[in-house]
Amino acid sequence: MSEKIVVKSKLGDLLAFVGLIRLRRKKIKSASPERPKEEFLNTVVREMHPDRMFLKISEIVQETNSTRTFVLVPDAGRGTEKLATFRAGQYLNLRIDIDGTEVSRNYSLSSTPAEAAAGTYRITVRLKEGGFVTPRIFENWKTGTTLESSGPVGNFVYEGLRDKRHVIAVVGGCGITPIYSMVRDSLDRKDGVSFTVIYGVRNSDDIIFADSLEELSRNGVAIHYVASEPDENWKGPKGFITAGLIRELSGGVEDRSIFLCGPQAMYRFLDGEIGKLNLPRRLVRRELFGEADDPAGLDGFPAGNASRTYTLKVHMADEVLEVPASGGETVLVSLERAGLAPPSRCRSGECGWCRSKLISGDVFVRKENDGRRIADRKFGWFHPCSTYPVSDLEMRLPRAR
Ligand code: FES
Repeated sequence: MSEKIVVKSKLGDLLAFVGLIRLRRKKIKSASPERPKEEFLNTVVREMHPDRMFLKISEIVQETNSTRTFVLVPDAGRGTEKLATFRAGQYLNLRIDIDGTEVSRNYSLSSTPAEAAAGTYRITVRLKEGGFVTPRIFENWKTGTTLESSGPVGNFVYEGLRDKRHVIAVVGGCGITPIYSMVRDSLDRKDGVSFTVIYGVRNSDDIIFADSLEELSRNGVAIHYVASEPDENWKGPKGFITAGLIRELSGGVEDRSIFLCGPQAMYRFLDGEIGKLNLPRRLVRRELFGEADDPAGLDGFPAGNASRTYTLKVHMADEVLEVPASGGETVLVSLERAGLAPPSRCRSGECGWCRSKLISGDVFVRKENDGRRIADRKFGWFHPCSTYPVSDLEMRLPRAR
């Protein structure tokens, strides 16, 4: 209703108010029974940030012996007409069925936002021998396989207001994927950001996107490979990526931002090296990739806890369930094993998607993965994805979305 209200007098205004009620009833009575069309803005927001998307594998590219790129297109038959746009560096949280248990895993988009606008995403997955999820992906995902994912999420993105115009990207293994997307997006948009990429690999056969990186290199992007297990023909730097090597290959670190992305073993070594560079913390960005590979090796992890078993008493909607949990796995993993599949995204304590209430019990949370607000810590909220049980626990989980 957009009736013009004119201020008259105290009594006049009161009567006008009574008149409003009558006017409102009249309008309701004469309104169309059709539901109003959705607001344009709501449609745009949902397209940009869908809760979930249905995708189909249209092509599989073998990148190295242990790495494959899956090209994904919208699965219109299940309701996804077009792909949500994203910021280079973001990832998809995929829901994957493992023998009847639904788990979620994050895979960075290796494609660019321009490619998404043209109808494809690419994710690049490395096989982890003996792992829980990637062997099934390599075995079961074929052209035509349908998948369900979140919309693109994550904060590992270039931010012009915060980051310097020159980025040093230090990456290892599959950690090249978000940087590969960022570099190409930056070139697409001609935003003037320059990149020095220092890519830790085992040997030359281990380089993902080798041809394409070669082309980027010819187009002026500084790309250096550092081999930890070089073959005899290797000509570049060998060994680990040290502070000295970062300085040398990038021509100094002054007025630079550093982006780190790689396996956890790489972070364990690099943390000390990056410290030697004496950069302000805000200039060092790191992607957090899911749960710790080896929780027993985490600073402060209770001795012997990894081999203990506990019971989780879980309140979920109107149900109360009890499930077993290993002290060596996050609460989220134990809940997934029990088929409870609570909501999750980052799996590293950052996004708050899995935020739940801890009613009782003791837990271990690694400091670097404790993304809770101070008030949440004080009032007993926790993130199951970055929390290990140290006793039996009782908790309330949010409803699955
Ligand atoms: S899934 Fe992001 S905080 Fe747990």
